[in-house]
Amino acid sequence: MNQIINIALPKGRLGEKVYNIFEMAGYPCPSIKEDSRKLIFENSEAGIRYFWVKPSDVAIYVERGAADIGVAGKDILLEYSPDIYELLDMNMGKCRMAVAGKSTFRDNTQRPLKVATKFSNIAQEYYSSLGRDIDIIKLQGSIEIAPILGLSDVIVDIVETGTTLRENNLEVLETIVPISARLISNKVSFKFKNNEIETIVNKIGKVIKEV
Ligand code: PRP
Repeated sequence: MNQIINIALPKGRLGEKVYNIFEMAGYPCPSIKEDSRKLIFENSEAGIRYFWVKPSDVAIYVERGAADIGVAGKDILLEYSPDIYELLDMNMGKCRMAVAGKSTFRDNTQRPLKVATKFSNIAQEYYSSLGRDIDIIKLQGSIEIAPILGLSDVIVDIVETGTTLRENNLEVLETIVPISARLISNKVSFKFKNNEIETIVNKIGKVIKEV
């Protein structure tokens, strides 16, 4: 008998798109679309149980085995390096990790560069690779305000459409890495629920190619 596969979906706009892909792949759970505060949805016939989690928490659920698989942004995977398998590029949630600042920004190499970011590991690694000393200012959101108020010289953040930067008179100074959503798996689940997980990956892969 097939075992139930627990799937952590990122709550929000991306998660809804991801669910639609799973639905098209043959793993529907219509109650998930009802307007409610419920977080867990099961379709035992299809052998799946979905739960909505904060996008940045998906990798934690998967790494610790509370979810067998999930969909997480490459930004989170790069920042936290969770011990998981990355199985598939979902080709959605596309954006880039970038350095941004005022158009007038000029780097003063006589002192450490002040970098505001949610992604301190990505920022640290990037600037280490350039041999540039930085002073990380770790923020939780609205990072764009930091260089405007002089809290930092630049920011390292996600840029999708570029609207947030534009509307705050900032611009991309350097692109660090392209980002997209990835299907990830718990390592033990991948071994012991291999058939089920491989089947899901194949079906999702086919749908992604079609859409
Ligand atoms: C992200 C990111 C930027 C914005 C970029 O923020 O931190 O602020 O999206 O998108 P854009 O290029 O399309 O304008 P998010 O909405 O995740 O909220 P946050 O401020 O809490 O990080």
